[in-house]
Amino acid sequence: MNLCIIGSGYVGLVSGACFAEVGHNVICVDNDQRKVDALQAGKIPIYEPGLEEIVHRNVAAKRLHFTNSIETGVDGSEVIFIAVPTPPQPDGSVDLSYIEKVAREIAGVLKKNQYRVIVDKSTVPVKTGEKVTETIKRYNRHGADFDVVSNPEFLREGCAVADLMAPDRIVIGGNSDRALALMKKVYEPFNAPILVTDINSAELIKHAANSFLALKISYINAVSAICEASGADVEKVADGIGMDRRIGRNFLNAGLGYGGSCFPKDIAAFIAISDELGVPFTLLKEVQRINRDQKERFLKSMRDALWVLRDKKIAVWGLTFKPDTDDVRCSVAIDIVNDLVKEGSSVTAYDPKGMEKAREFKLISDSVKLVNSPLEAIDGAEALIIATEWKEFANVDLDEVKSRMATPLIFDGRNLFDPATMHEFGFIYKGIGRRQTTKAEPALA
Ligand code: UGA
Repeated sequence: MNLCIIGSGYVGLVSGACFAEVGHNVICVDNDQRKVDALQAGKIPIYEPGLEEIVHRNVAAKRLHFTNSIETGVDGSEVIFIAVPTPPQPDGSVDLSYIEKVAREIAGVLKKNQYRVIVDKSTVPVKTGEKVTETIKRYNRHGADFDVVSNPEFLREGCAVADLMAPDRIVIGGNSDRALALMKKVYEPFNAPILVTDINSAELIKHAANSFLALKISYINAVSAICEASGADVEKVADGIGMDRRIGRNFLNAGLGYGGSCFPKDIAAFIAISDELGVPFTLLKEVQRINRDQKERFLKSMRDALWVLRDKKIAVWGLTFKPDTDDVRCSVAIDIVNDLVKEGSSVTAYDPKGMEKAREFKLISDSVKLVNSPLEAIDGAEALIIATEWKEFANVDLDEVKSRMATPLIFDGRNLFDPATMHEFGFIYKGIGRRQTTKAEPALA
C-alpha cells in the first residue's frame, strides 16, 4: 500500500520505517527541511536500537522516502497518518495546534476523485477525532471523499522497533467500513490482534493505558516507602504481587519515578480532559504526587546520609529517562542533577547515550562535568547516584568502583544492584525500598 506519515518524530519515523519494512511504500513528511535532508542522507536524529538498519535498508529498496511536501505525500497515498507533536500546555491540557494545522493542510490538498483515510496516530485527548473531521470538512474545498480514523501508538522508547514489529494489539477506531478495511490491510503483515472501536474509545484507550501503567509505578513506589519504614523489601513484595497473573510483575519496578515525554504529559492531559468533561479523575493527581515525592524522598535520604550536600563531589550514572534511548526529556535523572547543583554539590555525570542531547538542549548546568566512562565519573566521588538502569552500569568492576571513590556511598535510584552483594563489597548502599540485608540472612538467600 502507499502510506504517508506526517511528522518524522519518534512515532512517525519508527512507524514509517516499520511500515516500509513489511513491504508498504512509505513517504514521511516533515516541515523541518534540515531533518528531511539528514534523513535523506541516512542520518537518523534519534538513537533507537535497530532503527538505523531498517531505515537504510528501506531507503535503499526505495520503499521509504522523505519530503517536506504534504501535497506530495497526500497525493500519492491512500492512507495518511498524522504523527505530529501534541505538547502540554502550562495547565496540563494538550496543545492541539499542530494537529489542527496539519488537518487544514491535508484538507487543502485533497482531490475530488481520491478517497483518503486520515489517521490520527499522535496521542490526543478523547473527542479530537471529531474536531479533525469537522476541520477537514470545513477546508475540503473540492468536496473530496475522506474518513478519519484513530490509531493510537503503544511503542516504548528503547524498544520501539520491536514493539512496532510485534505489537500486543492494534487499536483502530473508526465508523466507516471502507476506512476500517483499508486499515486492516495496512496492519495485515504484522499478524497482531486488532481491536476495532469507535473513534472516541480508541483515543481514550491510549490515555487510559498510559495512566494505568503510571498508576502501577506510583503504586509500587508508595509501597517502597512503606517497605523502607517497616524493614520490608520492595523487590520481594513486587515479586509476590506480580506472581498473581491478574496483576503481573511488569511495571512494578520501584525507583525514582516515571519520566519521559509520554507519561507525565499524558497523565496531566487525562486529568485535564476529565476535568473538562466534568468527571475529575482525582486518583491520577495522587499518582502524580507520589511520583514527585519519590524524587524528594531520594534527595532527603542523600541529605540524611551526607548531612550537607554543598561542595560534595557527587557522581551520577545515567541522564536519560530510561535505558537504551538518548532521550533526556522530562528525565528524573536530569532533575536530580539540577537539584544537586542548586544545593552546591559538584556533579560529574556519565550516560552512554544521553550526554550530547543534555548539553545541546541546555538541560543541565554548564558546571556539571560530563565524562566518558562510568569509572571516570566516580574518581574521588563522595557519593554515587545511579539514576538510570543502563546494563553497562550493572557490569562494572565493583572493587574498582570502591577503590576510586573517596567514600563508598551508593544511592541506587533504580535498584540495579543487590544490597547484600554491595555490602559484601564494602559499600554503604541505599536502594529504593530495599531491605538492608547481608548474604547470611536466610530468608533472602
Ligand atoms: C510509554 C508506554 O510504555 C508506551 O506504551 C507508550 O506508547 C509511550 O509511553 C507513549 O505514550 O508514547 P515510554 O515513555 O517510552 O513508553 O517508556 P516506558 O518504558 O513506559 O517508561 C516510562 C517511565 O516509567 C520511565 O521513566 C521508566 O523508568 C519508568 N518505569 C517504568 C518505572 O519507574 N518503573 C517501571 O516498572 C517501569
